[in-house]
Amino acid sequence: MNHFNYKDKELYCENIPVKEIAGKVKTPFYLYSSATLTRHFNVFDRAFSGHPHLICFAVKANSNLAVLNLLGKLGAGADIVSGGELHRVLKAGIPADRIVYSGVGKTEKEIREAAKADILMFNVESMEEMDAISRQARRLKCRTRVSFRVNPDVDANTHPYISTGLKKNKFGLPMSQALEAYKVASDRDELDVVGIDCHIGSQLIQVEPFVDAIGRIKSMLYELKGFGIRLKFIDIGGGLGIKYQDEIPPEPDAYAKALLSEIKDLPHCLIIEPGRSIVGNAGILVTKILYTKDTEEKRFYIVDAAMNDLVRPSLYEAYHEILPVIETNTHLHPADIVGPICETGDFLARERPMPDLNQGSLLAVMSAGAYGFTMSSNYNSRPRVSEVMVKDDHFKVIRKRETYASLLRGETVW
Ligand code: LLP
Repeated sequence: MNHFNYKDKELYCENIPVKEIAGKVKTPFYLYSSATLTRHFNVFDRAFSGHPHLICFAVKANSNLAVLNLLGKLGAGADIVSGGELHRVLKAGIPADRIVYSGVGKTEKEIREAAKADILMFNVESMEEMDAISRQARRLKCRTRVSFRVNPDVDANTHPYISTGLKKNKFGLPMSQALEAYKVASDRDELDVVGIDCHIGSQLIQVEPFVDAIGRIKSMLYELKGFGIRLKFIDIGGGLGIKYQDEIPPEPDAYAKALLSEIKDLPHCLIIEPGRSIVGNAGILVTKILYTKDTEEKRFYIVDAAMNDLVRPSLYEAYHEILPVIETNTHLHPADIVGPICETGDFLARERPMPDLNQGSLLAVMSAGAYGFTMSSNYNSRPRVSEVMVKDDHFKVIRKRETYASLLRGETVW
């Protein structure tokens, strides 16, 4: 459930017409509903309430300070993958003891910063990374909590670019090497081995792969116990899918029930790293038709948002529903909704049945709250768009639109 709804044929975000916001902040812009964010987080959190757990929001999905601050206040922790994300999360007020650090290529500088901040744990993805963490912990004279990310070799049945739990993927330690890694790490004074982690992929619409993965983690836990290695945390990663078109993803309740039924007798704290399921349907991208063009072949709506603003359709051929901000009753006619960028791959939708719309009409690209702004770029020297948050009948610009000056920041002629 989200808070983007039509009232009298006009799209609202909570209690404000989207058109009113567009009139004030100009298009294109990302628009987030704080009520939806809150609801999604609370539903997720409640679903796991029967077991000790921590929800570490995957910051890569949406790293706006206001979004992180809101989730942090609701009790969320953070799953980060870079020094930049660590910086944001701390600035947003999320306590260090709720931060887990994932990623295959953490630099020594990033490791030092996170160890210094005393984050909850590093999810370690290779033996060499473990050595780097050891080095930095010794240098800082601290003991650092680690968990190993294992690769359970589970098929997540999702887009190959966002499938991460197969042997051929770069992520995690193969199960066959994990035992050795745990033994080595447990013998090191500067490392406190506290958990086991996996993340099998994103936009999963079945619970079975998660259950499979947690089953494999459980066997590993028993094996480790045999060697006297006892852990406190099981981190199952993120990946729960959302409805973009006609997918029927499991509800958080069903997802939680399936996971908890596997671990209900275990004392471990469960960490979950959802990104998309919290923010995906809490955000839209609002754009305006600059020009309409009917050719013999096709109808084009050329809009002011482009692949640099929302790359998902171009990169993954992802489907995002596109709705007119003011509903019209005309017949539907297939149209390509394209941006101003000089690439044929610059589209938000192709052959999409759309009503007859005019120059100046506003469109809402739905389900754009996750991996929307965070994956945007300045390609074609386009300033990145603003981000706006709504609370009931108020809105606030939570990130200003970039200017031409921001485009040139740091550059110099020589
Ligand atoms: N934890 C780890 C270690 C991850 O790598 C990811 C996502 C998550 C959690 C959160 O997954 P989620 O709950 O959002 O599915 N750009 C792609 C998605 C890439 C996901 C990368 N990892 C997209 O736009 O679909």
